[in-house]
Amino acid sequence: MEAQKFEKHILCIGAGYVGGPTMAMIAAKCPQYLVTVVDINSEKIKAWQTDELPIYEPGLLDVVKIARGRNLVFSTNVEENINKADIIFVSVNTPTKTFGEGAGKSADLQYWEKTARDILKFSDSDKIIVEKSTLPVRTASAMERILNTNQKGIHFEVISNPEFLAEGTAVADLKSPDRVLIGSRETESGIKARNEVVDVYANWVPRERIITSNIWSSELSKLVANAFLAQRISSINSISALCEQTEADVSEVANAVGQDTRIGNKFLNASVGFGGSCFKKDILNLVYICESYGLKEVASYWESVVRINEYQEHRFVQTMMRALFNTIANKRIALLGFAFKANTGDTRESPAIYITQQLLEEQAHVVITDPQALNNARHDLEGITKNLEFETDPYKAAENAHAIAIITEWELYKKLDYKKIFETMTKPAFIFDGRNILDHQKLYEIGFNVYPIGKAAKTHFK
Ligand code: UDX
Ligand code: ADP
Repeated sequence: MEAQKFEKHILCIGAGYVGGPTMAMIAAKCPQYLVTVVDINSEKIKAWQTDELPIYEPGLLDVVKIARGRNLVFSTNVEENINKADIIFVSVNTPTKTFGEGAGKSADLQYWEKTARDILKFSDSDKIIVEKSTLPVRTASAMERILNTNQKGIHFEVISNPEFLAEGTAVADLKSPDRVLIGSRETESGIKARNEVVDVYANWVPRERIITSNIWSSELSKLVANAFLAQRISSINSISALCEQTEADVSEVANAVGQDTRIGNKFLNASVGFGGSCFKKDILNLVYICESYGLKEVASYWESVVRINEYQEHRFVQTMMRALFNTIANKRIALLGFAFKANTGDTRESPAIYITQQLLEEQAHVVITDPQALNNARHDLEGITKNLEFETDPYKAAENAHAIAIITEWELYKKLDYKKIFETMTKPAFIFDGRNILDHQKLYEIGFNVYPIGKAAKTHFK
């Protein structure tokens, strides 16, 4: 690949769930740019160079294949690629801090800061630095301080361009985003840099969907968008608990409420709880920021979204316990799904982790199955050997089980032959539908005792 023939050199630091797909789309849509993605994890980079990508994302390989070898390169050489780049996207992980001040809530920015220092060390010319990872509001100012107190006489313009893609639908979200948000300082050089980033997306995103704003609004909008989405789930999940007490049906309630166009019908599926790398982390981040500005009431308002989610996960296990006669020791329980949602192998913050741990605590024998997430599940539960099994075949997982629980809404679980499954299970057989994806009446008629979320249970007991 001849570097000179490209109009622009774009670099992305961090080849994870965000950096990889985003850069693949930019490269596919903009053959005039050279797009390089670097990561310190050489295994990951190696995988990006093959057809076994390091993440499972429907349609992603096709996008990668359009550009790989043409204008898309994956490399571990962070140092060499920094200086060549005009625009550097930073997409490294920003996990919740596990130590010191703000532990459990604030973002751990050590990877970000290390990246900023690398950029500074290896740059000889002005660059645009784009924050892609979700960061606490005002991070850009810390980054500017690290980058722009240099003796080299070079200037870095820090831009915020949060990613709104959801896993499992990343390709569609990137191809046709609801909006692209680009925030900058409102100085002459800030606006110039912002326009350069706008130009990149304008290659395929209609101009009216590219929003520009000041840099703090952009950083904050990402946290707020995720907080609002998670709030909808916690709202409907809190109502699911009430439905189970009142014979109301949460799906009917969600449908009736969602038909109001002011409310809208998306993101109202009651579930076993939300997971994923963003929601909890971003809300706790928002909470921490509010607390640090002395906004106690605001902090506790948003914190309750996370508390309801924990309550929902806990309630699910409690329902299982009560239904199974308050003892699950030595009972075989099959968990159908471990990913935090369908169409991904990602298990970060998946409710499955908590549920498995609780069931094991009660000395149940847990069998986990999932079409994409078993490797991550093994990693999440590393060190636990007792009473735990991983099984690729859902039918085998359910064999001799006292109960099965749907944790992830994989299409495949809607289509299983539940009659066949019922016959191989220990009786009385229980099914806990943590995603409300199954035909509960039909399951009941087969002979199952059925426990949905937010709907009356259907049992054969008097
Ligand atoms: C989210 C945001 O949607 C995305 O814009 C942001 O960039 C990153 O965080 P993601 O975590 O990939 O994306 O998945 P999302 O589809 O938002 O689902 C999050 C969780 O909520 C999943 O566990 C999902 O199963 C759950 N969920 C979603 C529900 O329980 N009910 C719903 O109605 C919708
Ligand atoms: P996200 O979901 O935000 O994309 P991931 O954890 O999937 O998060 O990806 C972040 C990536 O950033 C990881 O692959 C990690 O190895 C990489 N990374 C972290 N620090 C650095 C660094 N200093 N230089 C290059 N890559 C880094």
